Amino acid sequence: MTTDPMPRFPAGFLWGVSTSAHQIEGAAEKRERSVWDAFTDRPGRVADGSTAAVACDHYHRYREDVALLAGLGVDAYRFSVSWPRVNSPGGLDFYDRLVDEVCTAGVRPVPTLFHWDLPVTLDWRIRDTAFRFAEYAARVADRLGDRVPSWITLNEPAEHTLLGHALGVHAPGEELLFDALPVAHHQLLAHGLAVRALRAAGARDIGIANSHTPVRAASDAPADREAADFYDLLLNRLFADPLLTGRYPRGVAELMPGDVAADLAVIAEPLDFYGVNYYAPTSVGAPTDAPSDAGGVPVPAGLPFSVRQIEGYPVTDFGWPVVPGGLAEVVTGLRDSYGDRLPPVLITENGCSYPGLDDQDRIAFLDAHLRALHGAVAGGVDVRGYFVWSLLDNFEWAAGYARRFGLVHVDFATLTRTPKASYHWFRELLKAQR
Ligand code: BGC
Repeated sequence: MTTDPMPRFPAGFLWGVSTSAHQIEGAAEKRERSVWDAFTDRPGRVADGSTAAVACDHYHRYREDVALLAGLGVDAYRFSVSWPRVNSPGGLDFYDRLVDEVCTAGVRPVPTLFHWDLPVTLDWRIRDTAFRFAEYAARVADRLGDRVPSWITLNEPAEHTLLGHALGVHAPGEELLFDALPVAHHQLLAHGLAVRALRAAGARDIGIANSHTPVRAASDAPADREAADFYDLLLNRLFADPLLTGRYPRGVAELMPGDVAADLAVIAEPLDFYGVNYYAPTSVGAPTDAPSDAGGVPVPAGLPFSVRQIEGYPVTDFGWPVVPGGLAEVVTGLRDSYGDRLPPVLITENGCSYPGLDDQDRIAFLDAHLRALHGAVAGGVDVRGYFVWSLLDNFEWAAGYARRFGLVHVDFATLTRTPKASYHWFRELLKAQR
C-alpha cells in the first residue's frame, strides 16, 4: 500500500457507509416474514445454518450504531427499509426513530426501499408486485419524506434476479434460468413506478443502486468473447440500458414478457443520481460441459457461458479478486456508454470480507479502490460520493455470519461492537478530506 496521502476528492463529495435491513436489524418477531426467512428455514441454504432472526440486533441497538456513524464522521448513511416490517404494526415507527437519530447526529439518511427482503406473500414473477411496491414507497415517503432528502429504490436487481430467481442460491431460491427475466422486468417497472410515487410525495433526489461487474473474456477466442459479451449484456446492460436509454439491449428485449414498450417509458423516468455497487470483475468464457463457479455464482452447464476464477490478483476472504482498477473501469465505461444520459454517480457499495480486528487487508482494499476512483474523477467522470459496504459485520446472505464486511466488528454471541483498524483509518481519511 502506498504511503502517499490520498488525493483530495472534489468539495461536497458525499462520504458514507451502507447497510441493509435484513442483514442487521434482527427483531424478526416484530415484522412479517420475508422470502429470506422462508429460504433460511430450508436446510443447507445458508452455509453456517444461521438465520437473520437476531443478526446485529440493530433494531434495538440503533442508537449505538448511529453513534458509531457519528464517530466515523460520515456525511451520509445508506440503510434499507424492510417492507415486511413496514407491513407490520409499529414498523414505520422504527424508521421514524432511526431517521430522527441519524439526522440528530448530523448525518444524511439515504434509505433504500428494497434490499432483497420481499414480503413472503409477494412474488416478483407477478407483475402486480411492481404496483404494490410503488404503494409501499408512497407510504414510506409520506412518513419519512420531511427528513429524508435522498432515496434509493432498489438494491441490485441484477443480483437479486440472478442469484435469487435464476440460480437459486439466494432467496427465494428459484432456479428459473432465463425464465427469470420477467423478474428483472417487474423490478425495473417497480423502480419506475416508485420514482413517480416518490416525486409525487415531494422527493427531489432519487436513484437506484445497480451492481456492475466488468466482464473479462477468458481468452481472445471468438467463442469466449461472444460468451463474455452476452454475460455483460445480462448482468450490466439489461439493467442500465432501460433505465438510462428507455430500451432493452438487443438480444434480451425479445425475451421479455409481452409488450413492454409502455413500461419502458416508466422505467426510464429521469434519475437524480445513479448508484453503482462494485466488488470485482468477472471472467467469462464459452460454455463448458460441467458446471462452473466463481465468486459464489454457480453456473450450471447448458447456459451459453461459463465463469472462471480471475488469476493474478490477491483475493478476499470470499475468494473474490481484488481489482481496484475495475471500479474506475465501471464508472468510466458508464460515462462512455451513456454520455449525457448518465446522471451523477454515487458509489453506493464497495467493500470486502476479511476476518480480524486489525484488518489491514481491508484498509489496503479501500485505499486502492479510492485511489482508482479518484483517477476516474480526475479524468472527468462525475462521481459525487462513495459509501463503504459495510458499517457492521452482518448476516452475509447465503454465507451466514462467516464473512465479515464491517468497519465495525460484531461479536454475534454478545452483540458487542468493536471498531476495527479500518474504522479508525476511514475516520482519519475523512478528516483529511474535509
Ligand atoms: C449486496 C450486499 C452484500 C454484498 C456482499 C452486495 O451485492 O448488496 O447486501 O452484503 O454484496 O456480498
